[in-house]
Amino acid sequence: MLKYAAILSLFLLSANSAQLSATERETVAIIGTGDMGDSIGPKLAEKGYRVIYGSRDPADASVRQLVALTGNNAQATTQQEAAQQADIVVLVVPWPAMEQVAKNLGKLDGKILIDVSIPIRQAEDGYLESMVSTSSAQLIQGWNPGARVVKTLLAGSNVIDDPMALGGRVTSFVAADDRNAKEIVARIVSDLGLEPLDAGPLRHAQEIEAWARLWFVPVLQKRKQGFELAVLPSNYWHCIWQDEWYAPVSDSENLAVFPDPEVPSKPCPSK
Ligand SMILES: NC(=O)c1ccc[n+]([C@@H]2O[C@H](COP(=O)([O-])OP(=O)(O)OC[C@H]3O[C@@H](n4cnc5c(N)ncnc54)[C@H](OP(=O)(O)O)[C@@H]3O)[C@@H](O)[C@H]2O)c1
Repeated sequence: MLKYAAILSLFLLSANSAQLSATERETVAIIGTGDMGDSIGPKLAEKGYRVIYGSRDPADASVRQLVALTGNNAQATTQQEAAQQADIVVLVVPWPAMEQVAKNLGKLDGKILIDVSIPIRQAEDGYLESMVSTSSAQLIQGWNPGARVVKTLLAGSNVIDDPMALGGRVTSFVAADDRNAKEIVARIVSDLGLEPLDAGPLRHAQEIEAWARLWFVPVLQKRKQGFELAVLPSNYWHCIWQDEWYAPVSDSENLAVFPDPEVPSKPCPSK
């Protein structure tokens, strides 16, 4: 439950349509019981979600141990069975295995499919480059056209294990083409102790994945200090913005509502 991280953002606000009481939380399938799966699962169960792990070997001792640790009637079964039983499916398998996994979960129409992948390989100079020409999220959407794919990077499993370790909430971008799915995932991100930020449509998964590659830079440079992303809310641009610069987004009437950031909104400064 450790290692790397990721985050960033846009707007912040509360998920009225996405709010459920703790006893009404959805059933979440976590596909993959590795570093991320074993951090996310217990945290979600603690918040009232029913967790079903999808594993290649659900009877393995380590998976059974994870189920026991998770509690709240958690279960483990095959990857496909877990996805079929859940409203929300979190894909936490290594990218090289993703195509085979994501194409074999059965019919996912209407289900929320959360992608946190970082499809990366090392370039000749040692820095990272993407293994895909678009993004992992867009590819997963193509393999499952009926699913409501949401890209969020969460953070490293170490941050999910201890979200306030650095003294503040780490930011996690959330991008999707489905407003309701985005709001529900924003609430899940918030339940994990992170700060969700609306990053617009699913194609912005490309930018989220690009940011994730930057996160590795200090680590690859062997620096002692890495970083986590915590966005500083600012109303500066709202105050000075002139509509002739760019038209507003075409779906501006249908923007996702996100959890309110815990900062007071400030009046625009007088010129
Ligand atoms: N670790 C992090 O902090 C972090 C942060 C942000 C994003 N991510 C992303 O999250 C994803 C998972 O990362 P991770 O660190 O949790 O990986 P991991 O520790 O390697 O675990 C992945 C799990 O996926 C399953 N799996 C492995 N190979 C598979 C295969 N060939 N076919 C099907 N299932 C397979 C395994 O679970 P079973 O044995 O139960 O099948 C395994 O434990 C990656 O895309 C990574 O980029 C990770």
